[in-house]
Amino acid sequence: MRLIIIVASLMLMTACSSGKDTHEEESSELSHREEIRLKQYIVQGKRLYLTHCANCHQADGSGLAKLYPPLAKSDYLMADLKRAACIIKNGMNQEIVVNGITFNQPMPANDELDPIDVAEIVTYISNSWGNQANISSTRDVSIWLKKCE
Ligand code: HEC
Repeated sequence: MRLIIIVASLMLMTACSSGKDTHEEESSELSHREEIRLKQYIVQGKRLYLTHCANCHQADGSGLAKLYPPLAKSDYLMADLKRAACIIKNGMNQEIVVNGITFNQPMPANDELDPIDVAEIVTYISNSWGNQANISSTRDVSIWLKKCE
């Protein structure tokens, strides 16, 4: 019995001391997990993009002449990812200027997409073709989608 107690308290002590490890290790562990999450979003987002968006915006995000605006290095896209989430979900029909070129064709809504799908697509398009941004998390995108105009 006494032996068990000694072993148990030894185990407790080592558990405590390993918990005291530096903050540095914890935060690099966290950023590693974030990086994996970002990569997962991008993989899923690419799949969804090729299904729902590439017809018009093209697989390389370059758009099509004056019909479909580019997403690659799009000043309009990168200026406001919340707006992008709303455009993906609800479509759009108004004159806009993207990288100095005027577009005015309707884009259809994607009502069947859930917040997680929209989050993955926004993360993919804002981190591809020379674009760079933070992850657009499902939690954030759910909030953004509730505030669409
Ligand atoms: C049928 C063609 C079509 C499809 C499919 C389509 N779009 Fe669009 N998209 C357009 C057009 C046209 C506009 C400009 C709309 C306007 O002027 O009102 C646009 C505008 C945009 C914009 C804002 C302008 C820019 O270039 O930054 C974003 C972002 C965007 N689309 C992303 C997407 C994503 C992501 C998908 C897939 C979920 C998608 N679109 C599917 C045609 C399409």
